[in-house]
Amino acid sequence: MNVLLAEDERSIAVTLRHALEEAGHKVHSVADGREALRELQARSFDLLITDIRMPGMDGISLLKEARTLDPAPHVIVITGHGTIETAVEAIRHGAYDYVLKPFLNEDLVRKVATLTEFRRLKNKVQALESEVGLDRARARLVGESDAMRRVLAVVRTVAESDEDVLITGETGTGKELLAKMIHELSARRDGPFVVLSCSGFPQTLLEDEIFGHEKGAFTDARALKPGRFERAHGGVLFLDDIDDVPVETQVKLLRVLQERTLERLGGEKTLRVDVRVVAATKVDLQSAVEDGEFREDLFYRLNVVPITLPPLRERRSDIPLLMAHFIAVHGKGRGYRISEETEEKLLRHGWPGNVRELENAVRRAIAMIGGGTELRAEDLLLGGPRPPKEEPQAGEGQVERSLRDVVREAEARHIRRVLKHTGSHRGRAAKILGISRKNLWEKMRELNITGEEA
Ligand SMILES: Nc1ncnc2c1ncn2[C@@H]1O[C@H](COP(=O)(O)OP(=O)(O)OP(=O)(O)O)[C@@H](O)[C@H]1O
Ligand SMILES: [Mg+2]
Repeated sequence: MNVLLAEDERSIAVTLRHALEEAGHKVHSVADGREALRELQARSFDLLITDIRMPGMDGISLLKEARTLDPAPHVIVITGHGTIETAVEAIRHGAYDYVLKPFLNEDLVRKVATLTEFRRLKNKVQALESEVGLDRARARLVGESDAMRRVLAVVRTVAESDEDVLITGETGTGKELLAKMIHELSARRDGPFVVLSCSGFPQTLLEDEIFGHEKGAFTDARALKPGRFERAHGGVLFLDDIDDVPVETQVKLLRVLQERTLERLGGEKTLRVDVRVVAATKVDLQSAVEDGEFREDLFYRLNVVPITLPPLRERRSDIPLLMAHFIAVHGKGRGYRISEETEEKLLRHGWPGNVRELENAVRRAIAMIGGGTELRAEDLLLGGPRPPKEEPQAGEGQVERSLRDVVREAEARHIRRVLKHTGSHRGRAAKILGISRKNLWEKMRELNITGEEA
């Protein structure tokens, strides 16, 4: 990263600068607050590390000025012994983090490393979004696992076709978000996006919602009510929990899908509707068909374009990216972060509520956080990690493998980080890692690490 270091105590400035440069950062060092501001205005820095008490301008004023720049650098504040209040004030004004004097250079270097990782993920989120052409879209399905890549790859093509779509996935896997994405990427984007959840309605009420009714169709029908199909005219109708539609209603639904015409309840007039249906279900509709609970003809009609959203536990490599995404969405620009230990826990968690559970966890942890910027494991994981038996039975072996992959990934990331830190000096890297050179060499071969990390 490109770092501006504002520190008037020469001994601190020199050693810290050295430590940061060792870790691969570019450092420009100044000893005066006003000079720091001039530098910030002249060039762009990724990070400002600033002392609080300095000649020219104090660190908090500098921080406030820095935060108004575009792009604004992240700020880490160094504050004197026993002035935790200043640290809190700095955080309130948008500092990413703080250290209290006296501090160990390596602690600060570690904070900078975490920030670097956070920025990398954030950039990646943005890059992925523009890759799928979602710059203008509000709906954003984030993910870079193989599974999500496959989903995202078909979404474009699917969106451009005008076929109906069936989305299958557990709760919280992003079915509704995916439906919105299809709407926004399709030619119907300027038409309405109408949602109807088919669960929890008695049959007549559901049909009333779907088809609407004429005035006087039944006792309570005092006025004409257009149904959801009519309201979705020219756009997309998202039928959630389609498996909950009673079999008798399924027949009527099939007719609308085939002929694109309908009558309101109690009506004679046939209405033409131009609607694309995106249906969603949490269950395996194919087996519902086999069990006689869902009509085969409707299933095949909907299943022209099937998309399956895998549960989060089967794409754990998306977890860090989703964390970064939700921190960006809910963190009001603050660079909240998590420790490596917390990340390990998140990677091992079962996530029965999938992405929604992860999003809620991030929101809760941000709400619970006091002054600092480090999200706590206990706020993120209220229920604690799930026992492995809650993983899908069909894929027990698969889950074990994916857990092992997660550990391998974490290991590889750590080794890469250390190698980078030492400028790819294997002897020093091995020493820091606490293993022998030979051991390190074997690990690198096993994990496909080239050693050209610096
Ligand atoms: N891949 C993703 N990237 C970003 N946000 C996501 C992703 N998947 C889900 N979300 C977010 O998670 C939350 C739940 O997603 P959504 O409502 O689409 O799930 P769902 O599959 O419809 O769940 P349910 O079956 O319970 O209705 C939403 O806030 C959504 O924006
Ligand atoms: Mg939903």
